[in-house]
Amino acid sequence: MSSISHIERLRAKLLGKTGTGDAATAGGDAPAPRAAAAKVAVGPEHYDFARFPELREYTNTRWYYDKQGYEWNMFREHVGLVSAEVEVAGRKMINFSSYNYLNLSGDPRVQAAAKQAIDSYGTSTGSGRIIMGEIPVFGEFERELAEMLGVEDAVLGVSGYGTNVAAIGYIARKQDLVLYDELVHNSMLVGAKLSGARRFAFAHNDCDALERLLAEHRGSYERVLILTEGVFSMDGDIPDIPRLIDIKKRYHALLMVDEAHSMGVIGPRGRGVVDHFGLDPADIDIHYASMSKAFATVGGYIAGRRELITMLKHYAPGLGLYIASPMPANAAAGLAALRIMRDEPERARRVIDSSNYFREQARAAGLDTGFSEGSAVIPVMLPDGEKALWMAARMFDNNVFTFPMIFPVVPRDAARLRFFINSAHTREHIDRTIRLLVELKAAAPASRGLF
Ligand SMILES: Cc1ncc(COP(=O)(O)O)c(C=O)c1O
Repeated sequence: MSSISHIERLRAKLLGKTGTGDAATAGGDAPAPRAAAAKVAVGPEHYDFARFPELREYTNTRWYYDKQGYEWNMFREHVGLVSAEVEVAGRKMINFSSYNYLNLSGDPRVQAAAKQAIDSYGTSTGSGRIIMGEIPVFGEFERELAEMLGVEDAVLGVSGYGTNVAAIGYIARKQDLVLYDELVHNSMLVGAKLSGARRFAFAHNDCDALERLLAEHRGSYERVLILTEGVFSMDGDIPDIPRLIDIKKRYHALLMVDEAHSMGVIGPRGRGVVDHFGLDPADIDIHYASMSKAFATVGGYIAGRRELITMLKHYAPGLGLYIASPMPANAAAGLAALRIMRDEPERARRVIDSSNYFREQARAAGLDTGFSEGSAVIPVMLPDGEKALWMAARMFDNNVFTFPMIFPVVPRDAARLRFFINSAHTREHIDRTIRLLVELKAAAPASRGLF
């Protein structure tokens, strides 16, 4: 008997018994055998990176920047802390391009906690958590987070992106259905794709469209996972979570909310959608947030029922399994930020007050802030990508740092500059920025349909 067939039989037995899927394949069964592939004429474009068509996206954009005389705006180096202002290229700029909503990434208490963790545990635990990588700060963070969210348990992951991919990829399987808002973050999409589940997008915030999909398809799948965000990262709008909860209950589906841009920001105490809508936290099955926004570090978490967290912690590849533990300093910084978030809710209120002021002033000045409402993500919509690139370059020349969002990140006719507001922005920062936007928009040259 070969060891492979022994393992396969053991696996089949385990799967048959538990029906929970296989951690090693992210909940997926073996793929169906593929038909023999058609012959391909192999050429350098298949083994020389310089010939890959994907590279053209970069070289074309670079060419356009050079041609226009724009400074290349990606990987711009800054020095010092990121806050409402930042030093770039030797100049002090008003900064709207960091997600540091509560202005905690340079907070002395958060910095001290990270340094203390390095002194106590070094820079890495050198192992996965389930083997030899567990240190007290991970459990402390998870306990205090679950308590703050009003749920049973939580698990901390190494990266925000990876936590979404790992959790969705583990929970959804081939025999399941994933229904996602068309504007959810790429990490959710990739998780859904990896899961092998059947996937359908529903139109942005269109609960009727979601319900139509459920009415038609619910009966053909085992688990159904509905994916949305607390605040949408490109548009800054908040979906109707109470209605989504009502729908998911009626169709026996699971609801997952990505709170990357809502946790720490919206709601009277800044505790995200549960706080904002006054919900029972148990009505959201899977609470998720990235830690690179209000938590001022990197990583991600999943929170919810104890059973969910137990499965993810022990068996989800990329979250509990096959991955090293988070950095001690990241977890310690996240915990310190969480405590400040909990104890100083006025920070969140400051963010929302400044965001409301930005939106009001922008709209009064004739700028289009799209669907943004009640959040700290504010797009200023522009007719096309060329205008967005030109405006961002001129804003930079005038010491305001904002990043252009163009195709393929957003549709061609939905280019924008995106503004993240944090608790350190002042009315003066905002007034100066709006004045500049209005002046530049009026002066922008005609576009040639290139972006
Ligand atoms: C909505 C949303 N989810 C997930 C992520 C991934 O988080 P991270 O960048 O911290 O890995 C992001 C990142 O910007 C995001 O905007």
